[in-house]
Amino acid sequence: MEQPWWRDAVIYQVYVRSFADGNGDGVGDLAGVRSRLGYLRDLGVDALWFTPWYESPLADGGYDVADYRAIEPTFGTLAEAEALITEALEVGIKTIIDIVPNHVSDQHPWFVAAIDDGPTSGMRERFWFRPGRGADGSEPPNGWMSIFGDAAWTRTKNPDGTKGDWYLHLFAPAQPDLNWDDDAVQAEHEAVIRFWFDRGAAGIRIDSAALAIKDPELPDVGGADDEHPYVDREEIHDLYRSWRTIADGYDPPRALIGELWLEDAERFARYLRPDELHGAFNFDFLCCAWEANALRACIDTTLRIHAPVGAPPSWVLSNHDVTRVVTRYGRADTTFSFAAKHGLVPTDLELGERRARAAALLAAALPGTLYVYQGEELGLPEVEDLPPEHIHDPMYFQSGGTDPGRDGCRVPLPWSGTVAPFGFGPDGSTPWLPQPAGWADRTVAAEIADDTSMLTLYRSVIELRRERLHGATFAWLPSPADVLSFSRGDVACTVNLSSQPVEPPPGVILVASLPLADGLIPPDGAVWIEISQPNDQGGPR
Ligand code: GLC
Repeated sequence: MEQPWWRDAVIYQVYVRSFADGNGDGVGDLAGVRSRLGYLRDLGVDALWFTPWYESPLADGGYDVADYRAIEPTFGTLAEAEALITEALEVGIKTIIDIVPNHVSDQHPWFVAAIDDGPTSGMRERFWFRPGRGADGSEPPNGWMSIFGDAAWTRTKNPDGTKGDWYLHLFAPAQPDLNWDDDAVQAEHEAVIRFWFDRGAAGIRIDSAALAIKDPELPDVGGADDEHPYVDREEIHDLYRSWRTIADGYDPPRALIGELWLEDAERFARYLRPDELHGAFNFDFLCCAWEANALRACIDTTLRIHAPVGAPPSWVLSNHDVTRVVTRYGRADTTFSFAAKHGLVPTDLELGERRARAAALLAAALPGTLYVYQGEELGLPEVEDLPPEHIHDPMYFQSGGTDPGRDGCRVPLPWSGTVAPFGFGPDGSTPWLPQPAGWADRTVAAEIADDTSMLTLYRSVIELRRERLHGATFAWLPSPADVLSFSRGDVACTVNLSSQPVEPPPGVILVASLPLADGLIPPDGAVWIEISQPNDQGGPR
C-alpha cells in the first residue's frame, strides 16, 4: 500500500517576508512565491510550509495574527493565496499553513474589544486578564517570564485612563495569550482550520504546540503541582485529538505537524500517538553537536521513540528561529541553544559549510520527513552584523539587546546578480533587512551554474532520496570511531566526523559532499553509496 505523503516528504519552509518580493516594496510576498514555483519544483520538494501569512502588524514576523481569514496586505490577498495553493499543486507541491493557538495579535478584534470595552468586557474571558498583586496592583499577577525575556504580563489602562488589570503574554506584549478553556476560542480555531483545509491546504504546522493550555490557577512555575503550569499539560492532548478528527474528515486527510520544544523525548512522542499529530519537528537533532556519538545517540533516541507510536521521525537542521547551519557548525561549540546566542562567537564558515554539506547528506538519508528552511539549500550563513537600527525581532528588544535575535537567519534570499537586492526584488528596491554585499556567489543563479554548490548538492540529494530511499529500511553498519554509517536498503550513507580520511563501504558512489581524495572520505565529508551487498533487512524500494 502506498504510504501517505507526509511520512517521507521533503518539506520546504517559506518565510514569506524574505523569500521573493514581487512588487518591489522590499518585503517578500505571495506574488514572489508564485513566480518562483519553478525553482521549488526543480529543487524537488513535496510541500511548502508557510510561516504565518495572515493579516498582522508583524510585531513577531506574523506570529501575531490579527485576522486568520485575510492575508497580510504587504504579502498579498486571499485570492492570491488560493491561486498559489492551486498553482503549487499543479507542479506537485502541497501547502502547509501555520496555526498559532497560543496567542493572537493585540490588534485582533477580540483583544481590541477586550481593552476598549473595559474591565467588564466578556471578551476578556478569551484571554488571561488578572488584577495585579500588591496594594495598588502594581506587581504582575505571578512571576512567569516571557520566552522573549522580561515579565509575561503587561498592565492595561482602563478606558477612563486609570491603571487596570494585567494580561498574560508568553511571548511579546503584542501577542496576548488565549484562554483555551473558553468555548469561543476552540470554536474559532476549528473554523479557521476548516477555512484553510477547504481551500486546499494539505496540513497545518502548529506553533508553540505545547504551550496553549494553562493551569487556570496560574500558579508560579516550580510550585507544588507536578505539572508545569503551561508547558505540556495533559489536557492539550484532547485538543489535538479533536483537530485530528477534523483533519481525518477530509479527503485526502490533512496532516498536523507540531512545534514542540520538549526536553523529555518520551513526553514528545505522546503527541504523535495515532489519534493525535502526524509529525513534529526534531529539535534534538537540530540542536545536536556535530559529533558522532551525540548524533548517533540522537538518531537512536529519535527512532526509538517514534517506533511505538508509528509516527515518522523528522530531520531538521534549521528554521526561522535558529542560527543558520553553516555558521553554527563552524563554531567550537556546534550545538544550538537559545541561551548560548547571547554574545557573538567566532565561526569558521568554510569549516561550517563542509559540515553543513555532510549534514545535508545525513539528514536526507535518515528515514522520515526532511525539512529544509529557505536558504539552507544555498548554504547561507547567519548575518551577524545587522545594524541595530534594522533589527525587527522582539527577542532582541525584550532581552535588552543581549540576545541578537533571529533576524540574522531571516535576511531576504539572494536570487541573482552581483549587488543587492540580488534579484530578491526588482533592481533598485531595498530589502526589509539588508543583505551582505558578499552574497553574489550565494545567489540561486550562481549556484545553479556551479556543479559544486550547495544548491546543486541539495538538488541531487533530494532527487536520489526520492528515487532510492522511498520505503527503504534503516540499519546501522559497522564503522570506525567517529564515523556514522548506515544503510537504507541498498544505499549506505557514511559520514566522517573524525579528523582522518576514512574508507567508504565498498560500492558505487551516488553522491559525495566533498571530492574524495584517493578514494577516501575527507574529515567532515559524507557519501551515499550503492552497496554491493545489500544488508539483509533491506526493505522494498
Ligand atoms: C514559535 C515560532 C516563533 C515565534 C513564536 C511565538 O516558536 O517559530 O517564530 O516567535 O512561536 O509565536
